[in-house]
Amino acid sequence: MKHLFQKGNDPSKPTLLLLHGTGGTERDLLPLAGEIDKDATILSVRGNVLENGMPRFFKRLAEGVFDEDDLIFRTKELNEFLNQAAKENGFDRNNIIAIGYSNGANIAASLLFHYQNALKGAILHHPMVPRRGITLPDLSGKHVFISAGTNDPICAPEESKDLYSLLEQANANVELRWENRGHQLTYNEVEAASKWYQNI
Ligand code: MLT
Repeated sequence: MKHLFQKGNDPSKPTLLLLHGTGGTERDLLPLAGEIDKDATILSVRGNVLENGMPRFFKRLAEGVFDEDDLIFRTKELNEFLNQAAKENGFDRNNIIAIGYSNGANIAASLLFHYQNALKGAILHHPMVPRRGITLPDLSGKHVFISAGTNDPICAPEESKDLYSLLEQANANVELRWENRGHQLTYNEVEAASKWYQNI
């Protein structure tokens, strides 16, 4: 997968896996990584799917309606890419924290839904429930921060609430933070994610 890798100063720190929103690139979330942990290694990936020229991490049938087969295929592809990237670059495969926005948050949530050890944790900005009606792996010991907007027209508040409940029922340690805003990523939520990260 097309990606950008930056080795951090401190190998004991997690590797931050950056996953952009629809139409983004692997450069978009680099400023966020700096806010979360300036010493961490960064692996920033570009989604392999194009929708009218816009990179995404999996196909959708309509706004908010996911192509489940492609979601499953792309989640496996990303998980395998992480295995390979850890080997090639010599970082700890078991110490990856994803930071995703929108479509990127959805594929990060899908990694958690399908693979017990894909991620150690995740910061999910404006996510949705990636897939319903499946049994999640036991996510004990995993840490997830969700930030959502009460007026988000793309990710309805129920999506964040349901995602929170599903992850919590799978034993993950989850925090859900609301802002009275829409779908845009705000500095306040990045700051809150940074505080959360310092305490996990
Ligand atoms: C998705 O397709 O993953 C969500 O609708 C969010 C987005 O627009 O990227």
